[in-house]
Amino acid sequence: MLGHAARLLARARFAIAFTGAGISVESGIPTFRGRNGLWKTYRAEELATPEAFKRDPHLVWEFYKWRMRKILEAEPNPAHRTLAELENMGILKAVITQNVDDLHREAGSKKVVELHGNIFRVRCVSCPYKENLKESGRVFEFVREKDLPKCPKCGSLLRPDVVWFGEPLLREALEKAFSLAERADVVLVIGTSGVVYPAAYIPYIVKERGGKVIEINVEKSGITPIVDVFIRGRAGEVMPKLLRRIKDILAGGNHYG
Ligand code: OAD
Ligand code: ZN
Repeated sequence: MLGHAARLLARARFAIAFTGAGISVESGIPTFRGRNGLWKTYRAEELATPEAFKRDPHLVWEFYKWRMRKILEAEPNPAHRTLAELENMGILKAVITQNVDDLHREAGSKKVVELHGNIFRVRCVSCPYKENLKESGRVFEFVREKDLPKCPKCGSLLRPDVVWFGEPLLREALEKAFSLAERADVVLVIGTSGVVYPAAYIPYIVKERGGKVIEINVEKSGITPIVDVFIRGRAGEVMPKLLRRIKDILAGGNHYG
């Protein structure tokens, strides 16, 4: 399986990765679904919807600041780093992620399409104001603040710049992702349950156009029925092994059969 995936990637003309919460598990960030998933402990409709934010912005901000703190403590793991290295090697053309944790960029990936936003970005609910808290250097002060965050331009509430249930995806990100998928001859799907649309269309688009689908997951997902290669395992363990195989192949030492 690993050898087959490595050969597909080594030969790929335009490979992309499509990632979900599972790739950040080994960095200590919980997933949404499954045994220890966030949506088991918290009800999504109470926290990640525009209605919830209208009803109780304190509760929603408490939840997001807790997640921001958790993510700030986290570091990219070998799976994120391997994707960055594959991009450096010219094999991977982009990472399309459903994650809001910024760990792909922290790991060094340059072409990152964030379909569900970024938890370190905030935006005003009534004017076009946006701020990246990491870039403005305000993030630590921001997560400690108990009062609701207000827009410095107009005084309205600030909200996380992430996509909530019932909200459309950012048009620009979605178009970019779909056009990458249309060009891709290989997609490496890592750590997603593949049940949230339109994001989950990405591997289907690649497949429909004759591309190959490689999946790495600890269990089967909504994408598994269309995969060409399924590698069962933790992303942080599988990815470095996969990279070694690819390097062997590129060095001409393809003895794995
Ligand atoms: P999920 O929580 O739905 O799925 C996580 C996936 O990661 C599951 O398929 C697990 O089997 C897998 N997994 C767990 N540990 C892993 C590991 N160490 N290595 C590899 N895979 C592992 O997360 P997503 O598919 O990302 O949306 O969820 C999609 C969207 O649903 C999220 O972006 C979020 C959520 O509601 C929004 O916030 C809009
Ligand atoms: Zn404003």
